[in-house]
Amino acid sequence: MKALARGDADFAFLTLKGWTGSGKTHLALGILWDWLERGSAAFYRQVEDMLEEFKALFNRPPGDSGLSFEGMFRGWENVPLAVLDDLGVENPTDWAVAKLDTLVDFRYLRHLPTVFTTNLDLDALPPRVASRLQDVEVGRVIDLGRVDYRRRRRASVRGSPQRGKDEDNDHDEKGVR
Ligand SMILES: Nc1ncnc2c1ncn2[C@@H]1O[C@H](COP(=O)(O)OP(=O)(O)OP(=O)(O)O)[C@@H](O)[C@H]1O
Ligand SMILES: [Mg+2]
Repeated sequence: MKALARGDADFAFLTLKGWTGSGKTHLALGILWDWLERGSAAFYRQVEDMLEEFKALFNRPPGDSGLSFEGMFRGWENVPLAVLDDLGVENPTDWAVAKLDTLVDFRYLRHLPTVFTTNLDLDALPPRVASRLQDVEVGRVIDLGRVDYRRRRRASVRGSPQRGKDEDNDHDEKGVR
C-alpha cells in the first residue's frame, strides 16, 4: 500500500475490500493525497457517481459546449492515479458495466495505478473486472476484514467494554451504507 502511495509499486491495481467502516475510503484517500502532494494528477470518484457523470455527458444533446463524454472518459483512462470507490454498488445496466469494463481494461493493459474499494466479495463483481483485479501480475487485493471503525467510535463514546463482541455482530450491517 505504501509503495503504491509513493508511486513506486511493482503492481498497478490495489483493491481494498472489507466490511463497511473498515477504512477502505480512508486508506484510498490517503493514497490519493500522497499523489496530489507530489503534484500528480489523480481522480477520485465513487463508481456509481462516475458512471452517472458518464451517462449524463453521453446523453447530452449534440452541439452542447463544454466537456464531452469522450473527453471525460479519456481523462479517466489516462489519469496517473484513479481511485474508484465502492465498486459493485452501481446500478449494473449493460451500458454501465460496459463502460466500467472498458475503463478497467484500458488501465489494466497499461498497468496504470488504480485503487479500487469494495465491500462485496470479488466474485460478486462483474467477472471481467474481478478477473483483472485478481491478476497477480498486475494487482494486489487487501482484505481489511470485518473491523468497523464507526462502530468502534460509537462503542468508545458509550464507553462500552465489548468492542470485540460488537465486531462479531457486524453481520446485520452488511450492505448498510
Ligand atoms: N485506521 C483507522 N483508525 C481510526 N479510524 C479510522 C481508520 N480507518 C478509518 N477510520 C475512520 O472510520 C470511519 C470509516 O472509515 P471508511 O469510511 O474509510 O470506511 P469504508 O470501509 O470506506 O466504509 P464503507 O464500505 O461504508 O464505505 C471513518 O470515519 C474513518 O475516518
Ligand atoms: Mg467507503
